[in-house]
Amino acid sequence: MIIFMRIDKLLCEMNIGSRSQVKELIKKGFICVDSIVIKKPETHVDENTVTVTCQGKTYRYVPYVYYMMNKPSGVITATQDGKERTVLDVLCAELLKGEGLTGIPLRDISPVGRLDKDTVGLLLLTNNGALSHSLLSPKNHVPKKYFVKTDGSISDEMVQALENGIMIGPEEKALPAIIEDRKDDQCTITITEGKYHQVKRMFHAVGRNVTYLKRLSMGTLVLDQRLGEGQVRELTKEEVDALCLRI
Ligand code: URA
Repeated sequence: MIIFMRIDKLLCEMNIGSRSQVKELIKKGFICVDSIVIKKPETHVDENTVTVTCQGKTYRYVPYVYYMMNKPSGVITATQDGKERTVLDVLCAELLKGEGLTGIPLRDISPVGRLDKDTVGLLLLTNNGALSHSLLSPKNHVPKKYFVKTDGSISDEMVQALENGIMIGPEEKALPAIIEDRKDDQCTITITEGKYHQVKRMFHAVGRNVTYLKRLSMGTLVLDQRLGEGQVRELTKEEVDALCLRI
């Protein structure tokens, strides 16, 4: 049996308004579904196929959304916070500059994994919980590549230690990492875990402090170099398909 969605719920999911606002829009005859005026909020519609029109604007329901952000420094990786600006605040502000928010189910969007407040670079935001879970599951060892600058030159011995796997706490060992493109005090590091402050703690363990950290990739997803810090774009179909292959 197929159970369709109530039109008032669908309009809320599409971010057209709050439950009371959309009820009002329906009462006033402003909502059309496939060109038919809907008068009852309890009307059930097939959310996957219908076209909704509200005051002359047309919307299609998109159940899943995927955004790539070049996270700026100074913003916390959270959906909301009483004091600090969050990555969701950045996302909403960026989307409002374009088409606006309508039609996008913002409610369930969250960042996939965490970057520190001072870390910049690739952050995926989605409402696809299964994908998020798969990318973050420790079992899956999804590679994450970072560009790192430190407060001193990085020696062969340090690289060796990082590539062998290193103790980053009394009983905590980081798995072997891959170090590439080393130039004096900077390099890239690829890790396959997501321990708390992992990259900073790994470098600390070899005697260096990280002074700049930028995530370049996560699994198949690579940061779009055209995105400035704080900018966002939707993932392409190819990027989504490549990520979803792993679910
Ligand atoms: N490792 C860190 O130390 N910080 C981050 O933000 C990400 C990985």
